[in-house]
Amino acid sequence: MRVLGIETSCDETSVALLRVSKGVASIEKHLTASQILKHAAYGGVVPEVAARLHAETLPLLIDELGISAKEIDGVAVTRGPGLITSLRVGTDFARALAYGWDRPLVGVNHIEGHIAANWIGKKVASAYRFPALVLVVSGGHTEIILMKGFGKYERIGSTLDDAAGEAFDKVAKMLDLGYPGGPAVSKRALLGKPDAFAFPRPLLNKPNFDFSFSGLKTAVLYTLQRKKEWSAQEVSDICASFQAAVVETLVAKTIRAANVKKAKTIFLAGGVAANTLLRETLTTAVKNALPKTIAVIPDLLYCTDNAAMIAMAGYFRLSKKKQDTWKGMEPDPNWELGI
Ligand code: KG4
Ligand code: ZN
Repeated sequence: MRVLGIETSCDETSVALLRVSKGVASIEKHLTASQILKHAAYGGVVPEVAARLHAETLPLLIDELGISAKEIDGVAVTRGPGLITSLRVGTDFARALAYGWDRPLVGVNHIEGHIAANWIGKKVASAYRFPALVLVVSGGHTEIILMKGFGKYERIGSTLDDAAGEAFDKVAKMLDLGYPGGPAVSKRALLGKPDAFAFPRPLLNKPNFDFSFSGLKTAVLYTLQRKKEWSAQEVSDICASFQAAVVETLVAKTIRAANVKKAKTIFLAGGVAANTLLRETLTTAVKNALPKTIAVIPDLLYCTDNAAMIAMAGYFRLSKKKQDTWKGMEPDPNWELGI
């Protein structure tokens, strides 16, 4: 089975061709056009600019993929959550393709796509044991999800304010490190001392599985207001200390939730999954605290927004005969997982 994936929910225009053969999923083609440089000038994503660039680029990427209707068994597209104007471009394009090519169409939840990234390259039917716990960490979401199988989700914790990626982006802005903030802050953190500043670990000792990152962000702001000039070393120290606070909180809550819910597998999902400290700390913590549980982390290629993960989630939906009609499918910018 071959699935064409299309992702345009934010600022990456991406297309991919997924093949599931002998039960193993592999990506045959994958093209992503990043808009980051265009948005960097504004310090964040400008929705109108994003949509216009998706509309210009998406037909070219599909053309470059060089596939015909005969080669695919379905078209999967991100239907939400995301920026409505960006989603509109991708879903309308996918609807037109499905109609013109007379192929099944499936709208995919972007977060489910991030989770599905963990199946790429694996034997799809039997790769993991459930119940599983997912730590979703992206620019818009920070959630802990109990997963009883693919498509079966219960959210057991989420952020009360900023998402983890959003906190990275805001701290980068305060420090003038550019956009997107996650990669910039983590790069500077390599040069800094994680214990140089005692930033708070919000809600760490609360028994629930919720997060809050806005207080941590404000703590960084108050620190910066203490004086006008900060040396390069001090900026690196702030980055390292901030990153350590975020990662420690994310990992501690995830381990606690996995323990309570007796999770057999822990998945990491979303753009912040690209963070090296998070990847290493989670892996080590699971080994030490929950030796019978395995930690699964997506390949770096599939952490930030991409169409391969959308094709993967689309494959699962299409296999379960869950499809949409080109006439009726509408983007949903607030689509919650599992609904
Ligand atoms: O999943 P994603 O690509 O887009 C959304 O669905 O939001 O996640 C983007 C977020 C941004 O906030 C970005 O700063 C963050 O992921 N991010 C990182 C890293 N790479 C991307 N955060 C921390 N460390 C990274 N290496
Ligand atoms: Zn995303």
